Amino acid sequence: MIKRSHTCGELTKTNIGETISLCGWISKRRDHGGLSFVDLRDRYGKTQIVFNEELHSNVFKKAKKLGLEDVIGIKGVVVQRPSEAVNESMITGEIDVEVSQIDIFNEADAMPFDVNDRNSANEDHRLKFRFLELRTKDLQKNMFIRHKAAFAIRDHMSKNDFIEVETPVLMKSTPEGARDFLVPSRLHQGKFYALPQSPQTYKQLLMISGFDKYFQIVKCFRDEDFRADRQPEFTQIDIEMSFVDQYDIINMATGLTRNIFKEILDVELAKDFPQLNYHEAMERYGSDKPDIRFDMELNEMSSYVEASNFNAFKSVLEKGGRVKGIVCPNGESYSRKVIDELTDFMKIYYGAKGLAWLKCKDGKLDGGISKFFPEHVQNLMLSDLKINNGDIIFMIGDDVSVVWQALGALRLELGKRENLIDNSKWAPLWVVDFPLVEWNSDEQRWDALHHPFTAPHPDDIDLIDTDPANVRSLGYDLVLNGYEIGGGSIRIHKRDLQQKAFSLLGVSDEEAEEKFGFLMNAFRYGAPPHGGIAFGFDRIAMLMSGSNQIRDVIAFPKTTSAMSLMDNSPSNIDKKQLDELGLSIKK
Ligand code: AMO
Repeated sequence: MIKRSHTCGELTKTNIGETISLCGWISKRRDHGGLSFVDLRDRYGKTQIVFNEELHSNVFKKAKKLGLEDVIGIKGVVVQRPSEAVNESMITGEIDVEVSQIDIFNEADAMPFDVNDRNSANEDHRLKFRFLELRTKDLQKNMFIRHKAAFAIRDHMSKNDFIEVETPVLMKSTPEGARDFLVPSRLHQGKFYALPQSPQTYKQLLMISGFDKYFQIVKCFRDEDFRADRQPEFTQIDIEMSFVDQYDIINMATGLTRNIFKEILDVELAKDFPQLNYHEAMERYGSDKPDIRFDMELNEMSSYVEASNFNAFKSVLEKGGRVKGIVCPNGESYSRKVIDELTDFMKIYYGAKGLAWLKCKDGKLDGGISKFFPEHVQNLMLSDLKINNGDIIFMIGDDVSVVWQALGALRLELGKRENLIDNSKWAPLWVVDFPLVEWNSDEQRWDALHHPFTAPHPDDIDLIDTDPANVRSLGYDLVLNGYEIGGGSIRIHKRDLQQKAFSLLGVSDEEAEEKFGFLMNAFRYGAPPHGGIAFGFDRIAMLMSGSNQIRDVIAFPKTTSAMSLMDNSPSNIDKKQLDELGLSIKK
């Protein structure tokens, strides 16, 4: 067997005259009479190898049969390319290898799609043959970025005294927000393990064990609705520290983020990332993960509405709702048809009742709902909101959560349409002072905004009994270019406060004991104050690869319906396996 002396991405003029060997895949092939030119590819690059009938007729004969993506090894001499054939954009572009010996390791069938062009097939087809898609230049680059990032993280954390500890993948089902993936137990029929949504409880226990600086690059599993930035199994950079406050965690996580960007992309992020409190983020951007690469903030409209004759919005205000608006340039391009599409988008996805609009023409408000605003109110709006000729103003009136969500989404959509987002920019920020809980009207109970172990803000503890909605938490999220790339909090480390938090969330003492007794009891034996954070590693890798699709940085991802098209999972299991587990399938 021919073993390689070099990779396909390294031979240059300096190797001319040397006898070398290469192994790889046939990426391209051109025949010119007694000469056959082949691009041989491996993950390091491509090298042009030449089969010459005159010099080596036997090898040439074998080469004649070669097809795309066959795997071969060759031996040959490095020669200078004729000057007109030099390709200066490639490291190997000045040389050829004249082949004298060949081993054909594996002949490939016709390819299901062209691995030189990722767009040559639709995504489902590529996912079915994911091992081939991984041969493409894009995915090879992405996997390398991901590897380098993981390496840089381990190095950085270890240098800062963090220790990586592995935690179980089979654990107790402990509700943490999303639905669990469950694993039936054969030895304990009728009982189930859960796959961790995160190692949250374990890392807190490790603090009680005295590992005051823990980290882990770890797989997490959540059975939820999937989107472009969510997968059922994903990877976290999970971190926990003892004897710290939230600013220690924020500083540590800022340092880690800066380090990864410097190491992988040679990008210098700001020394301190801006901080925004949750309420301000929602009011200004309609999102707790605002993309601050562009402005177009949400404006308060209630004073203009009050002075108007637009009854639909006035009654929203009377019922305690809110009216906010966005000023967008290039109003000309927003025809009735476009506005109708945007309105449907707001209605279908965000439950808005409608999308009101008005345009600015010749220094006056015009069209849409402008007729309901008397001239003096229009003039105030024009000057306060800095509305220019040609602008269009969109407004939504509803419950505050609908207004925030709908306008937050509209802001992003308009930002894209109007090309306001500078893709070369990196805009990290911390969002802090989240509410501890939010009201779940379907279930008629309070839900934790982060998770049940998050500490309430010490100044708000008295409000837990009287005004839960206004209790702030010691939680924080790290946002980058509109993506939540990390989230964490200072934790509760005392049993009585944890009990109080559970009772606010409607978890009875018995249920708390049954589900979280192991953690609550651990608090009896010397629990240090502690807190931490988990980064979404796939999301960071996705952003660093310049992609907006998390699948692009996961070697073997699932589809949005949580399927693996390559191995067809989830799949049926046979009756024997079910019997062993004491399970039967309800049809
Ligand atoms: P959280 O649930 O915010 O916190 O998760 C932390 C980060 O993980 C990423 N993430 C995901 N990435 C891809 N697919 C998913 N389905 C997915 N879900 C979450 C996000 C998110 O910011 N135990 C706490 C952390 C802590 O409190 O220390 C936790 O898991 O980038």
